[in-house]
Amino acid sequence: MRTIAEGAERTGRRARVVLVGCGAQANRAIYPCVAARLDLFDVLATCDLDEARAQATAKRVGAPRAFTDPAAALDACRPDGAFVIGPPAMQAAVAGRVLERGIPVFTEKPSAPTVAGARTLLDIARRHSTWGQTGFMKRFNDAYRAARACLERPEFGRPIFFEKHFYAQGPHRRPGQSDEELLWTVLIMQGTHAFDVARYFLGDIATLSAQAVFGRDGTCAVSSQARFASGALGTVQVTTLAGPGNARYLVDILGDGKAHVRVEDMRRLTYHGGAWNPTVTSDQFQQGYSMEPHPLARRLWTLGHFAEVVAYGQAVAAGRPPDPPAPNLEDNLRALQLCRAAWMSCLHGGQSVVPSEVTE
Ligand SMILES: NC(=O)c1ccc[n+]([C@@H]2O[C@H](COP(=O)([O-])OP(=O)(O)OC[C@H]3O[C@@H](n4cnc5c(N)ncnc54)[C@H](O)[C@@H]3O)[C@@H](O)[C@H]2O)c1
Repeated sequence: MRTIAEGAERTGRRARVVLVGCGAQANRAIYPCVAARLDLFDVLATCDLDEARAQATAKRVGAPRAFTDPAAALDACRPDGAFVIGPPAMQAAVAGRVLERGIPVFTEKPSAPTVAGARTLLDIARRHSTWGQTGFMKRFNDAYRAARACLERPEFGRPIFFEKHFYAQGPHRRPGQSDEELLWTVLIMQGTHAFDVARYFLGDIATLSAQAVFGRDGTCAVSSQARFASGALGTVQVTTLAGPGNARYLVDILGDGKAHVRVEDMRRLTYHGGAWNPTVTSDQFQQGYSMEPHPLARRLWTLGHFAEVVAYGQAVAAGRPPDPPAPNLEDNLRALQLCRAAWMSCLHGGQSVVPSEVTE
């Protein structure tokens, strides 16, 4: 059996990284993937304002050092890369410090809490000839990747109709939070994923209009209608109405070749290609093709977290950004512009907004 050290030798240079932010998402979704690929990552240190968390994560991933100050960790370790996982405002502040040192950064989504903050990160990265990857892991999800390949099939035609439903379990209204504040929180924490998925499949959105409704127990729903730059039409529905454990993720894309691909819950893909199987015309279900991961496949692997972490590590080790469609800081900016466009539209009775013109 090969040891980890032998694996490292085989792959050559490892990505020397520090892990900043040792909270829930970092330890649940990102660092377990880092720890599973120690042939690719050399974890120099962990860091969290909370020393006990930094120590606990260091123990879990086998890092030799733990810091409470991100700048001290960066100066002491001089890493090739840094994971920065925390609330969006923390990510924007710390990722800026990482990029200023010319170091490529990985943050969770969104990399910043505002459009202006997202643009600042992109500007810093460009100024220091480096790059960032944002944790839109759905771009690495197997079912979404297979669905994207369906759009390339000759019988699919032009993808001209897109529907995305994201029924999330939160966040809900905090005490004293206004409708506007709640809407923005829901859009940047959940809407960013949905809008990024829309761009992943159909490209940029030229105009967007949206409306919101507020329910009891701090819930809400935002319904957005999009006209893509390609001319395609789409809807993006984001709600926090799902009960605990009942989140749903649905994507439907229709092409003018009379083909249709659907992905349910980031797992179950169904493809109906109009002229794909011309010998079977009577039973629509016989025209379908479906795909599901093996029931034993681990959740972090199927959702896309493992592949996004590996893509970042390989890119850091190779000294160049990951290939598209890996989400970069420009994708992060576009997603936040779409969130803000939806927010502005909701506040102005559903009027149409041009996302690329949104600056704040
Ligand atoms: N991709 C997904 O599906 C998904 C799911 C959940 C959360 N997230 C994202 O993950 C991110 C983190 O969320 P969370 O719930 O894990 O947060 P959290 O509050 O549990 O953890 C944040 C950690 O960062 C630490 N921290 C704060 N400021 C710091 C600083 N300046 N330096 C060092 N450490 C600092 C805190 O002490 C805390 O331990 C959020 O941006 C969220 O949007 C993504």
